[in-house]
Amino acid sequence: MNKDELLGLVKKAVLIAQKEGKLPCFDIPEISINYSEKEEYGDYNAPIAFSIAKIINQSPKSIADTLTNILKQSKEIELVESKDGFINFYFSDKELQNCLNDVFIKKDKYGSSDDGKNNIMVIDYSAPNIAKPFGIGHLRSTIIGQAIYNLYKFSGWKCIGDNHLGDWGTQFGKLIVAIKKWNKKPIKDLSISELQDLYIKFHSETEHQPELLEEARKWFKKLEQGDKEAKNIWKICVDISLKEFDRVYKLLGVKIDKALGESFYEDKMASIIEDAKEKSIAKKSQNALVIFLSGIETPLMLLKSDGATTYETRDLATIKYRMDKWKPNLIIYEVGADQKLHFEKVFKTAEMLGYKDNVEFKHIAHGLIRWEDRKFSTRKGDTIALEDVLNEAIKRAEEIILKPRDNKEISFSQKKNIAKEVGIGAVKYNDLSRHPEKDIVFDLDRIVTLEGNSGPYIQYTAVRCQSVLDKVKKFDKKVKITSLNSEERAIIRLIKIFPETAEGAVKSFSPNLICSFLFELAQKYNIFYEKHIILNTEDKEVRDFRLALTFTTRQVLKNGLGLLGISIPKQM
Ligand code: ARG
Repeated sequence: MNKDELLGLVKKAVLIAQKEGKLPCFDIPEISINYSEKEEYGDYNAPIAFSIAKIINQSPKSIADTLTNILKQSKEIELVESKDGFINFYFSDKELQNCLNDVFIKKDKYGSSDDGKNNIMVIDYSAPNIAKPFGIGHLRSTIIGQAIYNLYKFSGWKCIGDNHLGDWGTQFGKLIVAIKKWNKKPIKDLSISELQDLYIKFHSETEHQPELLEEARKWFKKLEQGDKEAKNIWKICVDISLKEFDRVYKLLGVKIDKALGESFYEDKMASIIEDAKEKSIAKKSQNALVIFLSGIETPLMLLKSDGATTYETRDLATIKYRMDKWKPNLIIYEVGADQKLHFEKVFKTAEMLGYKDNVEFKHIAHGLIRWEDRKFSTRKGDTIALEDVLNEAIKRAEEIILKPRDNKEISFSQKKNIAKEVGIGAVKYNDLSRHPEKDIVFDLDRIVTLEGNSGPYIQYTAVRCQSVLDKVKKFDKKVKITSLNSEERAIIRLIKIFPETAEGAVKSFSPNLICSFLFELAQKYNIFYEKHIILNTEDKEVRDFRLALTFTTRQVLKNGLGLLGISIPKQM
């Protein structure tokens, strides 16, 4: 019994009721089947009677009664009831048993599907900027982007992750001028924050030396023309930055398939510009080359008045390249909400140029990360380097979560590793547990905790399952369900809907649905664990069943956490 089958059966029941005169004739309204969060409303429920009641003159209860009586006749449904106007369906024991067997068979693949077979998706995420620190916004993009990538892969899509590094643009002209004027060190010994300081100095100096701007323009032009000195300085800045970024990626355990930064498109922009001219889409305006877009006030700029290319031009060349190279069905951009207009313009232009061929563009516009009381800024007074924030999370994991438990069997170096898994997992979970487009608060006290909806709580539950399993050598994995208590049933019915939860998360670009699912599963398991004996039950069959339940819970927690890019520590 899955949602689609139920949908068909409910529709059929309405038609039968109409044919037999139990309901009058009307156009059948949209039918939905929902998972029932409250167990007293079955496992799935159909609220169809409420929509029908709006059309005909009958109470939802009597409509639900009529339809339920018809549904009771179908062999496919084992248990259905009418309650408070809802039609409630229950999974049969056999279905629940099959579900557990399925987990045993599919293991790490449980919940995955081949829905996306033959589909190709490119996801553009992370994308920090050279010579600037890896920002907190890029952290969000990296974490959410990676989760979306994992989800699509789990769903059978071929995925290509691309890190569109900000390594080109007029800012490099400014940076080169600043380095040449004020830097005293060998360039390769500069850190990102020193590069940033030089960039900031450039801006403050232009207040009384506006001619610096002209100089910077010249240097970017030189860079775009392949000048040796300009290229050399640029390359050193790129290398310095990548080295620092790699430290962050390593800490996060993230590896992105490709890193075709903006500079990769340097030689691919001319043909885009030619194309736009040829198709008579581009217009000269105040010496710049622009494209006017209907319904959007500011035009897209292909070339600035000094002939320099723009971020927008590079994004167009990127689309063209990705389409030619990978022929994707979907291109996802995991980039902050402040770039909404930018992507609207780029998407529209790509369509005008004919690059949007059998492909959907999706901008996941992530919200801000804020401190409890203010905006998170990496520029102003409250500058905290991202790496420091992550290291602080790790330190807290050690102090708050590992220390109080003081497990003597864990060695010092193991503890360090566990602290890292827990600290980083906690930061990731915090970021993923809300819908990407919502703002999130960055409050380490609430992130690194075992209380409530947190990463460590879920990890801890999985570790708890493992330690139960570690106490037995083996158990009979052939699950036999005879009489489930309500705590056991609550766990299995959740495990049963993990595949559809993953599917929903893919379709709506919402890793947060996985978080809510895992939190609920962890809670249900812990309730069961507190209330029932697992290992010391007299009845071997009951013991084996509960072990099987523990095994499958751990497996599903693992699969879900894996989608979020969070690992399960060996011990906690
Ligand atoms: N580097 C850019 C920034 O930090 C983000 C790039 C996003 N991707 C893109 N294709 N424009 O603002």
